[in-house]
Amino acid sequence: MTHQVRAVVARGKGAPVSLETIIVPDPGPGEALVKIEACGVCHTDLHYREGGINDDFPFLLGHEAAGVVESVGEGVTDVAPGDFVVLNWRAVCGQCRACLRGRPWYCFATHNAKQKMTLASTGQELSPALGIGAFAEKTLVAAGQCTKVDRAASAAAVGLLGCGVMAGIGAAINTGNVGRGDSVAVIGCGGVGAAAVAGAKLAGAAKVIAVDIDDRKLATAGRLGATHTVNSRTSDAVEAIRELTGGFGADVVIEAVGRPETYQQAFYARDLAGTVVLVGVPTPEMKLELPLIDVFGRGGSLKSSWYGDCLPSRDFPMLVDLYLQGRLDLDAFVTETIALDEVEKAFERMHHGDVLRSVVVL
Ligand code: APR
Ligand code: ZN
Ligand code: ZN
Repeated sequence: MTHQVRAVVARGKGAPVSLETIIVPDPGPGEALVKIEACGVCHTDLHYREGGINDDFPFLLGHEAAGVVESVGEGVTDVAPGDFVVLNWRAVCGQCRACLRGRPWYCFATHNAKQKMTLASTGQELSPALGIGAFAEKTLVAAGQCTKVDRAASAAAVGLLGCGVMAGIGAAINTGNVGRGDSVAVIGCGGVGAAAVAGAKLAGAAKVIAVDIDDRKLATAGRLGATHTVNSRTSDAVEAIRELTGGFGADVVIEAVGRPETYQQAFYARDLAGTVVLVGVPTPEMKLELPLIDVFGRGGSLKSSWYGDCLPSRDFPMLVDLYLQGRLDLDAFVTETIALDEVEKAFERMHHGDVLRSVVVL
């Protein structure tokens, strides 16, 4: 059997996305068909539609999603029809070198659905961005991309754990190992940085300093647990962080912008022997020049965080539980909910920095 559903499709480089009818096959072995309830709009979606990732148009977009499993293929045991799930773009294999070495968050074995979804009008094969394609009424994924979570949670809020929010929280709790009493600075408080603020708070940081050039972002960071805010358009980020930490610098500094100047700020804003966590993604051309004596002399560590070094099966249910207990305000990330045909408009608002997340609700 196949399913005809509406979905957002990016047909060509830079062209506005359009709402199309697509054909989704029934799940094959190891696959799951998911009825999508909500999906956040991420920068990566825009990146795909601009052709910045690869040229495999037409793309299905959307990957920060939650929904209900409608049916599963042969051999699927971890999830069952009726399960409320958050989707992920890195189902770990358990067998590659990274997995066997105990670092499954570096598993790059791709576990996506093998069967293809197609455009109803032309029969063309669609490429689901990040192997998900959840700006659609239904999508087909590998069963390992589904993590069952508590049904009581709002789909719009917990779907965001599928990407940017997990990247930020994980940068603090998994990569940065923020501990009770630590001082933490977060440079850049968009969706990812704001989540890092929330993660630092969850981990028990005593001081959480939020840095951004946009006061609206600093206000949200305050709501999520920042104890201090610094507008780095009007004051020097490094000096301000040092001043707020008794002249030392922060134990953990998280960079969530992805630019050389903020990487540099992060490097110098940490205390001696402190940790810098890079979660902002630079472009291939960007370079950082540092005097080696400072690298040598300051000690500590410089780490990058990839998808928050998360393990979906471990982290998603835990974070959903914390959300339901009122200890993690995932609703703060949902600036607006929109319909499926409003994704293009949401890209515009994202571009202007007006939103943390626009979330499509189906
Ligand atoms: N100093 C401080 N903050 C800055 C600066 C700067 N020089 N330049 C931009 N910002 C702020 C913006 O105001 C915005 O709040 O950084 C934030 C970036 O947030 P978003 O554009 O919403 O991006 P986000 O989704 O949070 O992702 C941030 O993490 O995972 C990566 O690819 C992602 O590189 C991106 C980064
Ligand atoms: Zn693996
Ligand atoms: Zn994303």
